[in-house]
Amino acid sequence: MHIAVVNGPNLNLLGVREPDRYGIQTLPQIEAAVRARARDLGAEIGWLQSNHEGALVEAIQALRGRADGALINAAAFTHTSIAIRDAVLAAAVPFVEVHLTNIWAREEERRRSLLADLAVGVVAGFGPQSYLLALEGLIQWLRANTPHPPSSAQV
Ligand code: DQA
Repeated sequence: MHIAVVNGPNLNLLGVREPDRYGIQTLPQIEAAVRARARDLGAEIGWLQSNHEGALVEAIQALRGRADGALINAAAFTHTSIAIRDAVLAAAVPFVEVHLTNIWAREEERRRSLLADLAVGVVAGFGPQSYLLALEGLIQWLRANTPHPPSSAQV
């Protein structure tokens, strides 16, 4: 089972950026934790971070037919990017929307997601743990909803 993890702008600064809000774990540390959990669950991870909307659009387009599922933290583009929404629609890959923070408990402009209605589910507000919870949820969902699961390992 191949799961792609797509990270949007400014997430490369995790650990340094607003630590009171986003915590002290760096993105490479979160990546290592996600890879370890995925290994335990019998999945493999592709990992990407970009600050550029077009690069994210191209990466999401490229998931079509290649990834079984995705975790997407589009960061600020969550709230603004119809291009990323369209790429997600085009890719037709089941995904979970992920946020470190609870976007519905923040400023008005962050309370709208242009992706959430397309997602299998949304995990927000648990810090880095959001990624792990989303991974577990997505793998369970894929095993329940894929006619011939690519892997027999259980969550
Ligand atoms: C975020 C929430 C977004 O509103 C913000 O722009 C981010 C990070 C989160 O993970 O909590 O960059 O996606």
